[in-house]
Amino acid sequence: MNNSKSFFIKSFGCQMNIYDSDKMRDIFISHGMSQANHYEHADYVVLNTCHIREKATEKTYSDLGRVNKKGKINNKIIVTGCVAQAEGDLIRKRVPFVDLVLGPQSLQTLDKYLSNEIIEDKTITEFDAIEKFDSLKKFPSYNSSSSAFLTIQEGCDKFCTFCVVPYTRGSEYSRRIDDILFEAKNMANSGAVEITLLGQNVNAYHGEDKNGTQRDLTYLINKISEIEKIKRITYSTSHPNNMTDKLIELHGSNEKLLPFLHLPVQSGSNKILKLMNRKHTREFYFGIIDKIKKQKKDIALSSDFIIGFPGEEEKDFDDTIDLIEQVEFMNSYSFIYSPRPGTPAADRKQVSLKIQEERLKIAQSLLNEQQKNFNKKFLKKTLEVLISSSGKYEGQVKGRSEFNQSVAIEGNSKYIGNIVPVNITDVSSHSLIGKTKS
Ligand code: SAH
Ligand code: SF4
Ligand code: F3S
Repeated sequence: MNNSKSFFIKSFGCQMNIYDSDKMRDIFISHGMSQANHYEHADYVVLNTCHIREKATEKTYSDLGRVNKKGKINNKIIVTGCVAQAEGDLIRKRVPFVDLVLGPQSLQTLDKYLSNEIIEDKTITEFDAIEKFDSLKKFPSYNSSSSAFLTIQEGCDKFCTFCVVPYTRGSEYSRRIDDILFEAKNMANSGAVEITLLGQNVNAYHGEDKNGTQRDLTYLINKISEIEKIKRITYSTSHPNNMTDKLIELHGSNEKLLPFLHLPVQSGSNKILKLMNRKHTREFYFGIIDKIKKQKKDIALSSDFIIGFPGEEEKDFDDTIDLIEQVEFMNSYSFIYSPRPGTPAADRKQVSLKIQEERLKIAQSLLNEQQKNFNKKFLKKTLEVLISSSGKYEGQVKGRSEFNQSVAIEGNSKYIGNIVPVNITDVSSHSLIGKTKS
């Protein structure tokens, strides 16, 4: 045991990294350590990194520079996550003071490292999802959040031509039903009322139950709904091709499933979708949106867009704008295409940065307007908000509505961890302001 020692974890990138960071926190705490709130004070500093765009990767190196200059002289620096997987040994060559590099499916090695077991190779990038989840299971969860992330599926076999995920997270793997239910129950017992089921292709989930029968996401969501203390369930990120009719219908029948769906489309142009290897068309996407709106008229939709992908001409971009106008999103993420080493589209002729920036501006202003319009509908109305923490200012708390909107509330901290009705008094594109009823 390292009783007096402390750790600090910084998580970059997606929610799956947050889940992994939580698991590493559990390992550190199991070794008797306490969580520091700044790297300057920590004995162990973990950067859990993201490789999705060039800027994300650069952030790893700039943060490493900062940690070295200001951190303790003798602290241990550990790099995990997708940059660790993609760059491996290169990290320790570029930044020699890094003590350990662990890929996302080798996190369990942290336990051996903290137990002072001899680790011959200080860069571990094995792909073994089964070993990862089986080993992590033995650490008690120190979750204290009312809204918890639960990874049920990891990796991706789809190989979109822009994306590093199949290379950094390995091939698609679904965890077993019983293991997930066990974890969900523990989360509920430690205060979670909302669970977000996570996977790079979460709706492709096909884990085994205890009889070895393969089960889909619909089955799993229904099972989790049986846990009394869990009031809200949502899932992310889905691929249009795995949006089965059964799953779409579940949005109409399962009351705990939130009326919110993040369904990235990336582009509205069939030509670009093909060049991206997305294996679906814009018409197919419209078809899903129609079906889901039939199940849940007011569902809030969100998406991801890549702007200025190689080969994107003016008319392709116009198709993207047209798709955005037709669907109407409540929230979306849009990014300029970033060529990633080793992915097929990186070597193609690139769209100029000037054009990419112009298009991004147009797309983002439309998406912001849609978000604001969506939010405006709730002015003077009541939303059910899960209050998760205290707010920015004294006397304020914050949380998320059933439509995944972030809401700042004049209200008492006694509400934290509860779902309460909130009167909406003001709206902006990115958030809502409200008052609790009592
Ligand atoms: N599995 C999800 C996406 C995971 S990556 C899906 O299939 O949609 C998260 C988002 O990052 C993607 O939706 C995409 O919009 C963005 N992204 C991925 N690679 C990118 C790249 N090379 N350049 C810019 N954005 C990228
Ligand atoms: Fe990346 Fe998603 Fe495509 Fe997989 S499906 S390659 S995670 S964008
Ligand atoms: Fe980034 Fe890896 Fe997630 S590249 S977005 S941390 S899967």
